[in-house]
Amino acid sequence: MKKKTIKEILKDSEGLVGKEIDVKGWVRTRRGNKNVQFVALNDGSTINNLQIVFDLSKFSEEELKSITTGSSIHVKGELVASQGAGQSVEVLARELEIYGTAPADYPLQKKGHTMEFLREKAHLRPRTNTFGAVLRIRHALAYAIHKFFNDKGFFYFHTPLITASDCEGAGAQFQVTTLPLNELPKTEEGAIDYSKDFFGKMASLTVSGQLEGELGATALGQIYTFGPTFRAENSNTPRHLSEFWMIEPEMAFYEIEDNMDLAEEFIKYCVSYVLEHCYDDIKFLNDHFDHDLIERLKFVVDNDFVRLSYTDGVKILEDSGKKFEFPVSWGIDLASEHERYLVEEHFKKPVILTDYPKEIKAFYMKLNDDGKTVRAMDVLFPKIGEIIGGSQREENYEKLMARIDALGLEGMEWYLDTRKYGTVPHSGFGLGFERLVQFVTGMQNIRDVIPFPRYPKACEY
Ligand code: 4AD
Repeated sequence: MKKKTIKEILKDSEGLVGKEIDVKGWVRTRRGNKNVQFVALNDGSTINNLQIVFDLSKFSEEELKSITTGSSIHVKGELVASQGAGQSVEVLARELEIYGTAPADYPLQKKGHTMEFLREKAHLRPRTNTFGAVLRIRHALAYAIHKFFNDKGFFYFHTPLITASDCEGAGAQFQVTTLPLNELPKTEEGAIDYSKDFFGKMASLTVSGQLEGELGATALGQIYTFGPTFRAENSNTPRHLSEFWMIEPEMAFYEIEDNMDLAEEFIKYCVSYVLEHCYDDIKFLNDHFDHDLIERLKFVVDNDFVRLSYTDGVKILEDSGKKFEFPVSWGIDLASEHERYLVEEHFKKPVILTDYPKEIKAFYMKLNDDGKTVRAMDVLFPKIGEIIGGSQREENYEKLMARIDALGLEGMEWYLDTRKYGTVPHSGFGLGFERLVQFVTGMQNIRDVIPFPRYPKACEY
């Protein structure tokens, strides 16, 4: 008999009624009386459990007592139409094999644990309904992303995780070194002698694959990266991780408008994909945590994103009469409260904000003719704030060189070569994968959409 997952059994339940079933999984609950016991079995393939019915004339009470919540079992029996409400089919157990019991100290006994409690048990939380749903949705989103770009003729381009360059220039990098920290080699001037380090120079974990991605795009035309990125900012917020995954498409011959079109199409595709393929999981999250979730997801798919300039956005904020914690004026880096005001209160729609002051954006963004703003674009989402950051890139060698010089960046010759040899207009953006998963699942905290979150003072497992 071919082994089937519970998802497959439930999907084809009509066809399987009357047939012998072989199923393995973890016990979610057991209830019943002296004559019959019901076990809700889950194998992770779906949010839905399969009910197993144990007739106590065939199984000893003692044996059944040991299959507590969290135990792992193997059952063979006939699939029959269910007598009870709540499920259409159930398995009448004929054979039971117990792989492992879970003693009474199993931490996931009752329903309704807090997210904080579950974060402390992150090694077991994938076994809960909530995290099972989130992790299946996370997988589906990753698959949808590859499918979206592959179908459009983009190439998946692998950029390095260990790098000697700093893409965003924010100085929030984790250093990679094999130097003895208690006995650092020094140069004659007293500085750390990185020529003695593993790579012969200072190296770090990447904050973004973009700069290397641009090398790919100016050769293959359209590429995307999808990998982990690392930021050593001391940001203890529900939207920041120290290790997160980022998707960074980079396209030759794309102006900022093409970039915005792609970003909007891309997010809508991802959201539609999970609505279609993960409906059970989304519905579970909608019913248990966030009753507007499905409505919000459909709204994003069905409506055009608002597009406006930073300057116009700042004007709306200034005219709003609202008392923000951080006062608004032209030139400030918008805080989450400002972004959320525009999206949730003013427009009530996702917003793409463009043309930011050059001082608050990275060196590689294309300078506008006004000399003050750059062709940046941030996509702002309800509940999340910034979900995408991107721009048209500066393709003019002299202008880029001037920015690099002004900021004192070194070792950028390889990057400048893309502008020196056959430069082209090009654009790209970065989508924070966990922020997308957060939006799609409605989870309040980004630490709950990645299996093993890393944030300041937290690096377990
Ligand atoms: O806006 P960011 O810093 O842009 C870049 O890194 C560019 N190189 C992207 C590009 O143009 N190719 O980051 C992009 C996105 C943000 O919009 C946000 O969704 C996410 O990455 N992000 C984070 N997600 C979780 N934790 C953090 N600490 C994040 N920092 C950024």
